[in-house]
Amino acid sequence: MKWLIPFLIACSLCCQAEERQSGNFFLSPDLRQLGFEKGANPIEIWIDIGQVLWRDSSNGKSCESCHGAMSNLKDAVRSLPQISRDGTRLENLEDKILFYLNASREKKLTLDSDEVVALSVAIQQNAKDSVIQMQPQLQSQRVWNEQLKAGTDLFYQRMGRMNLSCSQCHDQNIGKNLRADVISPAYPTGFPVYRMAWQKPGTMDRRLRACYFGVQAKVPDVGDAELRQLELFLKVRAQGMVLDGPSLRR
Ligand code: HEC
Ligand code: HEC
Repeated sequence: MKWLIPFLIACSLCCQAEERQSGNFFLSPDLRQLGFEKGANPIEIWIDIGQVLWRDSSNGKSCESCHGAMSNLKDAVRSLPQISRDGTRLENLEDKILFYLNASREKKLTLDSDEVVALSVAIQQNAKDSVIQMQPQLQSQRVWNEQLKAGTDLFYQRMGRMNLSCSQCHDQNIGKNLRADVISPAYPTGFPVYRMAWQKPGTMDRRLRACYFGVQAKVPDVGDAELRQLELFLKVRAQGMVLDGPSLRR
């Protein structure tokens, strides 16, 4: 915990100095417009699908039968990833969704199944406007700190044939153009992101793999521990920011 305290203080100081902008701030005007247009925003259909799945009891008990309203998971969205019960690894929102989706299913789904993504979209839509609040659960503080340290190291480590760190783009080149994109500070406030390039929403896991691919580094497997460590780091780095809900991206 010791090393974390100066880090969090430094972080809250810099937030005061300068307003932190979510990814939506860097959107082109046409995408921003599409986001406001009722009936034209392609995210809406995914919210609807997620809501249907939430109430679906064809594979055993529905999510709703145990959790009630989707908005009851707000606190989870604000504070995941967290350490698993067995204390060995980080689990994010989609890991939890997948676990419950598969609990009583013959044919198991995977993390990149549309069902997982749709539920994540709907659950995060219901947590829109709440504030990121990362803190370790008491019983797993030590492992949480280790995982956060690993994620921090990854963020500043150069990688791939382009020999670039995450920080070199997302701290040092914010606002600059990279091909047709404008580089944002990579705050995790607008997930899942519906990318036009994907023609569907993608989770943090998928977005991070795309950045590994972008610098021509070896792309981690879906669900890899590194991706969860980076996600934890990004969430802590965005401590106190407001969640925008699922967002459009180029
Ligand atoms: C049989 C009851 C039951 C069903 C059905 C169920 N859950 Fe849960 N769920 C729980 C319990 C109990 C917990 C808290 C224990 C834990 O965190 O593992 C939980 C935890 C969660 C969490 C993490 C919450 C947190 O605070 O970290 C998520 C996300 C979640 N469930 C999603 C779902 C989804 C999506 C479905 C439907 C596919 C579902 N659950 C179905 C009982 C259920
Ligand atoms: C060569 C520059 C570059 C590097 C290095 C890079 N990214 Fe990205 N990243 C981008 C671009 C371009 C985008 C799309 C525009 C944006 O949202 O910033 C992006 C998007 C993202 C987003 C989505 C932000 C949003 O709101 O949609 C996250 C999160 C992210 N990167 C994290 C990382 C992490 C973590 C690493 C290190 C493993 C990394 N990136 C490495 C260029 C880079």
